[in-house]
Amino acid sequence: MTDQLDALIHRPHLMAVNARPPQVFVRGEGAWLWDAQGRRYLDWLQGWAVNALGHCHPVLTQALSAQSQRLLTPSPALYNAPSLELAGLLCELSGFDQVFFGSTGAEANETALKLARKWGRLHRGGAFQIITFDNAFHGRNLATMAASGKPGWDAMFAPAMPGFVKARLNDIESVKALISAHTVAIMLEPVQGEAGVWPATQAFLQDLRALCDEHGLLLIFDEVQTGCGRLGQLFGFECFGVRPDIMTLGKGLGGGVPLSAVLARQHASVFEFGDHGGTLAGNPLMCAVGLAMVKALANPAFLAQVRERGAQMEQGLRAISEEFGLGEVRGKGLLWALELGTDAGPNAGPELVKTCLKLGLLVNAPRQQCLRFMPPLNLTEQELQEGLTLLRQAVSGLSGHSLEANGAARLVSH
Ligand SMILES: Cc1ncc(COP(=O)(O)O)c(C=O)c1O
Repeated sequence: MTDQLDALIHRPHLMAVNARPPQVFVRGEGAWLWDAQGRRYLDWLQGWAVNALGHCHPVLTQALSAQSQRLLTPSPALYNAPSLELAGLLCELSGFDQVFFGSTGAEANETALKLARKWGRLHRGGAFQIITFDNAFHGRNLATMAASGKPGWDAMFAPAMPGFVKARLNDIESVKALISAHTVAIMLEPVQGEAGVWPATQAFLQDLRALCDEHGLLLIFDEVQTGCGRLGQLFGFECFGVRPDIMTLGKGLGGGVPLSAVLARQHASVFEFGDHGGTLAGNPLMCAVGLAMVKALANPAFLAQVRERGAQMEQGLRAISEEFGLGEVRGKGLLWALELGTDAGPNAGPELVKTCLKLGLLVNAPRQQCLRFMPPLNLTEQELQEGLTLLRQAVSGLSGHSLEANGAARLVSH
């Protein structure tokens, strides 16, 4: 089995869109992943913040198994029970009115963009322009790449889709300066995840809401990463007390299976027959899993536990940062980033990711000098402590740093 897998890695039939480590992962359970050699890793990637309940949680596998024996995909043009129930539950919990289901976050965001353009045609004299933000990440199809603010992305698959202008997060004047008769919506992540976990301030989101109300614009939250319990509330917007007109969900909604959603309030839910669709949209197999996931995630005791673990994570990261003279610790719930600081070296992030992997901890470096942590929302106090211990060990070996007796880090020459 292992030899066979090794041989497959060396025959590059998978398109090389990621720099992958050599391990092949074959099994997951809760907070843990195993590679083909039988080595165990504490997983703080969790499918990029997807496996909200960890790997292969019974809540999910049982729903998948039961529904797989009942009905997979009747047709998106027919009603099925799990999609009706999940849409109802999401609306009840969020205060939104209507839902469209997709498979990926990018698809949900593309749907939200179409919805906004349609709304602009109906209600704002054909306005189509959407204000998004520098360093934002909304997905990898052409529309969501154009909406994203990743440096260099506008030229990557030129010509970029028109209709997007970029403001700066937490800078309301930069938003105001972009509003024109063409503007139809403002779209953002309440916490920019892929950029390195940069939260919007509550005041900024409140100002955006007021600005949208004043100018008759739609406010769209991309909660693909921040939704579904990740920030310690079921939906990120609840942490800020600001309700958008449209919200997208993905990742944790399926908890490991491809499921995403766009939720719209009544006035923004303007699709008519033929405007949108998808062969697998709202299929009962994925919606049954989503239903089981949302029921588990919405439990107030579960969310309280996420906040408790989040506080433990924050405290642990701050202690590491202080001990080694690293940078800022940012985040909320169980989405955190640790800035490594310029003294740590230009490639400190990727270097630490490799060291952590060797030690048995999977983490991500969204930027060269930043680590991001996305553990399962149900990890135990002990698992979290174990991860922090491994992280501390990795940081202490960071090239360019040595740990001094008093706990301060200093640069050493090689
Ligand atoms: C905020 C946000 N939006 C959209 C996406 C895209 O989701 P997907 O990769 O499922 O298309 C991501 C993925 O990381 C994300 O973090």
